[in-house]
Amino acid sequence: MILLGSDHGGLELKESVKALLEERGIGYEDCGTYSTDSVDYPDFGEKVSRRVSNGEAEKGILFCGTGIGMSIIANKFPGVRAALATDLFTAQMAKEHNNANILVLGGRVLQKEQALSMVAVWLDSQFDGGRHQQRLDKIRQIENELNK
Ligand code: RB5
Repeated sequence: MILLGSDHGGLELKESVKALLEERGIGYEDCGTYSTDSVDYPDFGEKVSRRVSNGEAEKGILFCGTGIGMSIIANKFPGVRAALATDLFTAQMAKEHNNANILVLGGRVLQKEQALSMVAVWLDSQFDGGRHQQRLDKIRQIENELNK
């Protein structure tokens, strides 16, 4: 199950991604926002990131205008590896190298078809492990020290 969250700047793209997930038979929960009214992205970033962080959900996708705000809030949560992807390559690397458990997309930056391809490649790619796992372990170790 994938948790989705957006502010007003990412709402339209989130709706398109929901349609993609439905086509693929992938379960999701939309954690809001649900209208185009202006809202604060940390509120919705938190809803998704907290549940990925505590293991309630394996992964999430966050959307805001640029993707920057959502990346900042998501990466505050222990164990969250949120990747702001900007094209197909970065979406693929986000999984293969970073094992990103949250994909972040900018609704005011990406074209719809491009963004949908990015979601698909992130979902379909596999983490490469090996030296990349070693790097993630270092991040986790630093995170643990900082959160002591
Ligand atoms: C909202 O206007 C905008 O600031 C937000 O969607 C996002 O781009 C922030 O990083």
